[in-house]
Amino acid sequence: MTLNEVVNIADLRELARRRLPRAVFGFVDGGAHDERTLRDNEDDFSRIRFAPRMLVDVSARKQAIDLFGQTLSSPLIVGPTGIAGIVWPEGDLCLARASAAMGVGFCQSTTSNASIEQVTARGRQGHWFQVYVQKDRGLTQSLIDRARDAGCTALVLTVDLPVAGPRERDIRNGFTLPPRIGLANAVDYARKLGWLWRMAGAPRFTFGNLDDPERPRQGLVTLAEQIGRNFDASVSWKDLDWLRGQWQGKLLVKGLLRADDAVLALQQGADAVIVSNHGGRQLDGAPSGIAALPPIVDAIGGRIPVLVDGGIRRGSDVVKAVALGATACIVGRAGLYGLAAAGQAGVERAIGILQREIDVVLALLGVPDINQLDRSALFDAPPLRNFLHGVTSEPDRARISAGRLAGDLDVQHETSVTKHVRT
Ligand SMILES: Cc1cc2nc3c(=O)[nH]c(=O)nc-3n(C[C@H](O)[C@H](O)[C@H](O)COP(=O)(O)O)c2cc1C
Repeated sequence: MTLNEVVNIADLRELARRRLPRAVFGFVDGGAHDERTLRDNEDDFSRIRFAPRMLVDVSARKQAIDLFGQTLSSPLIVGPTGIAGIVWPEGDLCLARASAAMGVGFCQSTTSNASIEQVTARGRQGHWFQVYVQKDRGLTQSLIDRARDAGCTALVLTVDLPVAGPRERDIRNGFTLPPRIGLANAVDYARKLGWLWRMAGAPRFTFGNLDDPERPRQGLVTLAEQIGRNFDASVSWKDLDWLRGQWQGKLLVKGLLRADDAVLALQQGADAVIVSNHGGRQLDGAPSGIAALPPIVDAIGGRIPVLVDGGIRRGSDVVKAVALGATACIVGRAGLYGLAAAGQAGVERAIGILQREIDVVLALLGVPDINQLDRSALFDAPPLRNFLHGVTSEPDRARISAGRLAGDLDVQHETSVTKHVRT
């Protein structure tokens, strides 16, 4: 299969699988423990059905949205993904440039290979920066200062990684940073000549934001070791308060799955929350992003934007998330599969595929403007959580099968959410 033959994100994933060494593909594709949450992220989307309206004029369609005073061509943000430079040389810059070319958002990771300054100078400007609070608070402070000086428009605090997620594919594959070729995996690497060839010409492996030129470079480490040494597991709500004081731009909190946590983030001055389980890479058994979304949307009540991620592989997933109240969706692996397939062009292809799919779904749904979407566009509107997990009550089931839609069910859902937040 070549890039020209790619039809959807699943094809891009297959290309990535063929082109990356097993350990690198496993790092991108894998999740925590039994990967149940990883699977739920995709599966829960596939359980949601649309309630299309007919005889609506959909000859002109719009999927652009406004977020923090900026227009995005689609409700999409290429999310923070660390060490993208092992997928493709200068992977962070490819992600940044592709997102700019396609008019969508981009958030750079703390653990990117490129530095904040390199992304601003050679990737795109005005991007978002994601921060993990480091044990060395001086380093955390300097990351914030550098993001401000580089003109980053938003800071994203990721809160779901106090310790490294238990990713068993990485353990089995002996995944290290930088990747190590040894006896056990030499044959596999030898079959990925394109990747080897590209990496041979790639810049030296760095953590552009974390490397200290004053300190000797560390040798090979596992991701868990890198995180254990540097990331602060004691981070708490006090740190969000501290961060709010340090950062005058937009501040987003990423990795929330509970309505009460989202309300706390709002109360502490967050400008948006991101409903996320880190792509199923942290707590296996956490709910999917899409299942956790509706209670959080209801608790936030439109006061700040609510973004969501996890399992976005189709434009229809984006449409479902927006119908459930998300302002925008973050994509992680979809962009990385594209990156592995063909660098910047592959990332652009991934975004383009999602955009084309969003467009056709809006047309078939009878909703010409994505900003008009609400829960009435879904056949199985909330209580989604119960519905997804097969515990919908008999009266709900009867109402759903009788074709009664969102408004009716929302009332019950609202009550349970309000109760949840209070307790
Ligand atoms: C390879 C990889 C690296 C990631 N690195 C980070 C990171 O450095 N910071 C962060 O906040 N999230 C990180 N994430 C999580 C993503 O930002 C996002 O939450 C997740 O990938 C969304 O799920 P999806 O991959 O199914 O789209 C990473 C995800 C992947 C797949």
